[in-house]
Amino acid sequence: MGDFKHISVLLNEVLDVFKDSKGTIIDATLGLGGHSLALLEQNKNINIIGIDKDIEAINLAKIRLNKFKSRIKIINSSFSDGIKEALLANDVVGILADIGISSYQIDNLNRGFSFYSNSLDMRMDINSHLTAKMVINSYSKEELHRIFIEYGEIKNPIPITKIILDHRKKYTINSAKELSLLIEANSKINAKIHPATLVFQALRIEVNDELGELKRLLKNIESVKNAKVAIISFHSLEDRIVKEAFKSWSKSCICDDDAIRCICGNNYKRGYVINKKPIIPSQNEINVNKRARSAKMRCFKFYG
Ligand SMILES: C[S@@+](CC[C@H](N)C(=O)[O-])C[C@H]1O[C@@H](n2cnc3c(N)ncnc32)[C@H](O)[C@@H]1O
Repeated sequence: MGDFKHISVLLNEVLDVFKDSKGTIIDATLGLGGHSLALLEQNKNINIIGIDKDIEAINLAKIRLNKFKSRIKIINSSFSDGIKEALLANDVVGILADIGISSYQIDNLNRGFSFYSNSLDMRMDINSHLTAKMVINSYSKEELHRIFIEYGEIKNPIPITKIILDHRKKYTINSAKELSLLIEANSKINAKIHPATLVFQALRIEVNDELGELKRLLKNIESVKNAKVAIISFHSLEDRIVKEAFKSWSKSCICDDDAIRCICGNNYKRGYVINKKPIIPSQNEINVNKRARSAKMRCFKFYG
């Protein structure tokens, strides 16, 4: 595993969701295989299909999961596509997605996710086209505003965009380190988060089409039968998408809100939300793994 480590978030809670499962569990975000490994160790009645778009993560996961190789199949793909192949298994009883980036991706300075990276890449799939360097150096003012507002949730993106555009007149921004220093030098110090945090969040979401991926994943699993779904997200944009999907799957009537009477047949409920409130990490877990602090897990059970 080299020096790269990833502490799996909400591990006990994930194990608890799938403890009585018998069949195939799809781990849509295999990463370094932490959740998959623990699930395989806990329960001999399950097999795993693991999906990840990051081939480097898959190669590390394969080493870690070697002793279970007869019980795991791995698909190198985006989860919105890979899930279609995974669902061909006819005994799927669980779908897990731990969305976001792994510590391996953050800590590997060649990948461009960290404030200290020497590159400005941020692709989870190293064969995909768009990089953060392309976004930051070539997007128009309007495009940068859009991603900073929609994906970075930055209320007023004008100052930050101006700093970037002014700098771009003379220089190319080549690394995440350069970008974070540029933002830091022009920001008021906020003790809570690094001043470049929201810009980096916006770039990552844009480069990897993270919200589009999540929406397509949810669309592609909505007709699954008899399976539990557990989705861990790390910011409110993703959590809102998951919450809305689960809410719509729980509705029996799909008529317009302003319909005078039901004409849909009132028979569309696909299952139920397992926990009304999202499951969050304990203070103990956060003490050990600061990166877990914003995690929220929502779970849904599809009827058979
Ligand atoms: C937080 S890590 C998962 C860690 C893993 N659960 C563990 O315990 O080791 C998220 C992983 O999901 C992958 N990922 C994120 N979005 C993806 C997508 N749309 N399609 C495929 N893989 C994705 C990332 O490349 C990363 O390796």
